[in-house]
Amino acid sequence: MIPQGENIKLTVDSGIAILTIDRPKALNALNEQTLHELKSALDWLEHHAAGREGSNDPSKTVDVVIFTGAGEKSFIAGADILEMKDKDYQQGERFARFGQSVTRAMELLPQPIIAAVNGFALGGGCEFAISCDFILASENAVFGQPEVCLGIIPGFGGTTRLAKFVGLPRARELIYSGRKLKAQEAKEIGLVNELVPLAQLMDRAKAIAKEIQKNSPLAVSRSKKIMNLVYSMPMDLALREEAMQFGSIFGSHDQREGMSAFAEKRPANFKGE
Ligand code: CAA
Repeated sequence: MIPQGENIKLTVDSGIAILTIDRPKALNALNEQTLHELKSALDWLEHHAAGREGSNDPSKTVDVVIFTGAGEKSFIAGADILEMKDKDYQQGERFARFGQSVTRAMELLPQPIIAAVNGFALGGGCEFAISCDFILASENAVFGQPEVCLGIIPGFGGTTRLAKFVGLPRARELIYSGRKLKAQEAKEIGLVNELVPLAQLMDRAKAIAKEIQKNSPLAVSRSKKIMNLVYSMPMDLALREEAMQFGSIFGSHDQREGMSAFAEKRPANFKGE
């Protein structure tokens, strides 16, 4: 059974999953319940990657995930401020650790996740977007880390991940000022890969997902894994790790099939193994 929650929806069609935060009364803000529901959905997705144990039902195998918010106004308006406001030191730390575990699960998911940002991506919302592999946004999207305006700091990984998207000086400026960025500026500074009109957002995300899906799921997920792993390594160790991972994919079904298909001038039939 594909897991569903009160505040999240998960659908799978032809190997493309759409994971939607749907909490309209709070502009899709993340309360603890929503984070729990999201974690269950991510666990399910992990077990339904091609080639994984439990993924033997091809109708439920997932190659690419699109992560978005319901409605036309907000992707995720942050962590739920009303739920957070009376937390003490320990509860605050526990909440951040839990949110971080969910953003980390997104980052480490075997399948690529495309963030389809359809409106406000503020605070924890921006932090969830930057836990995806890359961001596609609608022209009405607004990004920002406004935590300092509330007297707190980013707690779902923003102090480390934002710099990976926009560089450290820009991340500092955005986090210290709490300034909101319109979609066009977010594109110009490299936070967003591509901007599209809101009405075309999901079609464009699906088109990119289909392009990825044509390739070996094993090679795509291995590329994702290695790019996550080597990011924080010194160059020489990172290159050694890349060479080891490159070598270890030889002999897999997908490597034999992909190269034989090229030699035989026919489309490849990948299995993710
Ligand atoms: N938490 C809880 N409720 C929220 C919310 C949030 N983050 N964002 C919006 N809502 C609720 C509002 O309280 C409001 O509820 P009611 O109708 O019951 O009053 C409803 O959503 C609609 O919001 P607005 O009336 O404010 O809508 P708007 O169009 O005037 O403004 C907005 C939209 C600019 C996004 C504004 O709602 C806003 O500034 N939201 C907060 C954004 C924010 O600061 N996010 C960071 C949170 S802290 C965080 O995320 C910490 C972390 O790193 C983990």
